Amino acid sequence: MKKTLTTIIALGVGCLLAAPLIASTPEEDQEVWQAYFEKRFPQVPRDEFVNGVYSIDPVGRENWEAIEEFPPYEAAISDGESMWNEPFANGKTYADCFPDGPAIAGKYPHWDKERGMVVTLPLALNECRQANGEEPLKYKKGPIADLLAYVTYESRGQVTNVEIPEDDPRALEAYEKGKEFYFARRGQLNFSCAGCHVGNSGTTLRTEILSPALGHTTHWPVYRSKWGEMGTLHRRFTGCNKQVRAAPFEAQGEEYRNLEYFMTYMNNGLELNGPGARK
Ligand code: HEC
Repeated sequence: MKKTLTTIIALGVGCLLAAPLIASTPEEDQEVWQAYFEKRFPQVPRDEFVNGVYSIDPVGRENWEAIEEFPPYEAAISDGESMWNEPFANGKTYADCFPDGPAIAGKYPHWDKERGMVVTLPLALNECRQANGEEPLKYKKGPIADLLAYVTYESRGQVTNVEIPEDDPRALEAYEKGKEFYFARRGQLNFSCAGCHVGNSGTTLRTEILSPALGHTTHWPVYRSKWGEMGTLHRRFTGCNKQVRAAPFEAQGEEYRNLEYFMTYMNNGLELNGPGARK
């Protein structure tokens, strides 16, 4: 089932499910998506969307800028650096899996043709551990977030550049599944991701201003004041699924990996600026 973003956006998110199902390519989707946010927030320069809600909320921004002077994610970066350098029980390190060094966030998520699946950065890090006889880390918080904080910090300035290889139709399928997920209504509140972060972006929900979806993938992991700690992108997915009282999916399961593939592709061209700090 395919829907064009143009149709969805033109009809308004409320009519999403009634939208005619017309095929559109990822390139077309991306163009419509980015243009939509630029039109919705004409005062926001494109590069600013990586700062989430602070790109559109001047009051929150001031507070955030003060927080960024003593970044709450700094300890995570240095803990992650120790993890990166500390040998596994077999004497090897992450560098044996990633010979280009820790600045690798810009290569993820990517389509792995041999395995026929989307590989994300946290998954690749855990697979390195397992290949070296170590236990995998849990995916939502704790040591994985530290390790990611270091890798992401080292990757700052790289540019989002997700590819959907045309020689493997399964890659496009994974993208379509991610897109489908993003626009599907779920939970008791019957809301889609797009309902909040596209159609209602910039409006207030309870006490929070809803951030635009553009830029949502550039700055993970995040130190969130509400959590009082670091968390990963898939932790945030879980939280947003629960907000609408929908059952969350498994972190790093196929659904969320495909979702990340779609969302990150939509952000192509935006700079990586993680780790981040949010309310
Ligand atoms: C009922 C409204 C609602 C829905 C539906 C919703 N979210 Fe959110 N989301 C929020 C709120 C509120 C926040 C915190 C304020 C902000 O940054 O928008 C948030 C934050 C986020 C963030 C963090 C933004 C940042 O800058 O760090 C991401 C990523 C995100 N949501 C993704 C999703 C995804 C993916 C879905 C669908 C699975 C989804 N959201 C569904 C309300 C929603």
